[in-house]
Amino acid sequence: MSRPLVRARTLKGVLDAVGNTPLVRLKNVGRDTPGVEVWAKLELANPGGSVKDRAASRMMTRAIADGRLTPDKILIDSTSGNTGVAYSLFGAALGVRVKLVMPANVSRPRKDIARAFGTEIVFSDPMEGSDGAIRHCRRIVDENPDAYFYPDQYANPDNPNAHYFGTGVEILDALGDRITHFVAGIGTSGTIMGTSRRLHEHGRPIRCVAVEPTEALHGLEGLKHLPSSLIPPIHDAAAYDETMRVTTEDGWDMSDRLAAEEALHVGHSSGANVFAALQIAKQLHARGEEGCVVAIVCDRGDRYFAPMKWEKKYVW
Ligand SMILES: Cc1ncc(COP(=O)(O)O)c(C=O)c1O
Repeated sequence: MSRPLVRARTLKGVLDAVGNTPLVRLKNVGRDTPGVEVWAKLELANPGGSVKDRAASRMMTRAIADGRLTPDKILIDSTSGNTGVAYSLFGAALGVRVKLVMPANVSRPRKDIARAFGTEIVFSDPMEGSDGAIRHCRRIVDENPDAYFYPDQYANPDNPNAHYFGTGVEILDALGDRITHFVAGIGTSGTIMGTSRRLHEHGRPIRCVAVEPTEALHGLEGLKHLPSSLIPPIHDAAAYDETMRVTTEDGWDMSDRLAAEEALHVGHSSGANVFAALQIAKQLHARGEEGCVVAIVCDRGDRYFAPMKWEKKYVW
């Protein structure tokens, strides 16, 4: 019997492949809380492999449409990796030159993926983390403002709007009145801001939960510990209902479980989001309540492996 072709479609180009990502029920890691459904929104299904495709594609296409991004300009931004991959991919698709500022210690595969699209990378001090990359990027733009289009994902309303008009609408379309909770980690905060705003407009209350690392120095790449960070201008804590803090160890362990038990090999921020979603499910279950919790799965795990044979040099 043939299966329905849910996502099969012809596209005008790679930009049209962004969004409309599938939701999958986590039946195994969520088995201890019957009555509470836990769903993963698979943002790894975007063409650049992460949730950041949504923000990057919207920031770029809107800037081209209103004349902020013209063919003579170089797109520059600071990024810990996934947004850089997305800018690079869509830069290649749209004929836009891309320059990225990132801490020198971000994972090797992500630097290589960006470079594969022809992107130039400038490294900032690894000890200063993503905030150091932001400051370094601003210095480059200030020295030569006319040469660059600086989308500034931390301050650009098209970042949360990509989720307001995309992620939030898609979740409501798929789960409608069933969803009770939404969970997303904070990097720029675009995902939690935009999706929460859309979900809060829904007729029935939906509790939106932000995930942050417990510690300032952590291993949940892509996530920010806000108390020790520059607060992104797009961030507004009033847009969501609660913050849950997750340790690096719990995030990493849940990533391992997702691979082994759900066949989802995902990054550690996704592990942290699902860990928080399961905490919520346990609380509901303990109170004898039903629920439907959606967690964002931000990116694929292979991005965090060291590369093996993509270097065109082999050691036998
Ligand atoms: C792996 C990963 N997870 C989560 C996030 C957080 O997403 P947002 O920037 O929308 O808050 C990011 C953002 O860079 C990321 O790269």
